[in-house]
Amino acid sequence: MRGIILSGGSGTRLRPLTKITSKQLLPVYNRPMIYYPLNTLIKAGIKEILIIVAPERAGDYLNLLGSGKEFGVKFTYEIQDKPEGLSQAFIIAEKFIDSDHVAMILGDNIFEDDLADEIKGFKSGAKVFAKKVSDPERFGVVKFNNQMKAEKIVEKPKEFLSDYAVTGLYVYDSRVVEIAKGLKPSVRGELEIADINNWYLEKGELEVALINGEWEDAGTFDSLLRVQNLAKEKLADKMVI
Ligand code: G1P
Repeated sequence: MRGIILSGGSGTRLRPLTKITSKQLLPVYNRPMIYYPLNTLIKAGIKEILIIVAPERAGDYLNLLGSGKEFGVKFTYEIQDKPEGLSQAFIIAEKFIDSDHVAMILGDNIFEDDLADEIKGFKSGAKVFAKKVSDPERFGVVKFNNQMKAEKIVEKPKEFLSDYAVTGLYVYDSRVVEIAKGLKPSVRGELEIADINNWYLEKGELEVALINGEWEDAGTFDSLLRVQNLAKEKLADKMVI
């Protein structure tokens, strides 16, 4: 299993905090934000990690994270020239993934749960992690039927569809590269992760695991404030990095 941390974008919603550095390098209590998703991958035993960054911030990431030796892993870096969607990561990562499975986590997603066994237990197809939230309009959501079987995944639906958000941790087999290459940009001009998930769902190969612990996408001022406390109260002494 290989790992990807997608840490691109310009963090416009967090200006002026992101005027001189990347959102995912902002402090979250006593560590840079990216340490938390990195911790999730390292705990799952993943040793080869590709970090995808925006061109103007690449130097900051190299200075902070280096080769990976300090963390007992190997980092590779790639540039995402423009934030053209989460699925673009798999095209950028084609050579890196090769024929392995891959776990991608977003650089601003912070999980309370230890998901190591969930990631290690992956066999094939796709696995995503969902969490009931009070603000589903911010996220991709998964609609379940009465038997809690996933029916479809929709990116930020305008009208209420479900309050189960799809979190920013995705595990796929190596077919994900070809699937991503076949996608067309959505109306907002992005290669959507929802399209990859629906591809697997339609084949009956998407597993949706519900997570119990807290989860935040730290992309807004309020969620950034919440993760500070989450990190202080529940995460700081459980981190391996
Ligand atoms: C992205 C995904 C969305 C997912 C979210 C999790 O949204 O597109 O499906 O629910 O991450 O953090 P973004 O943060 O790019 O708006």
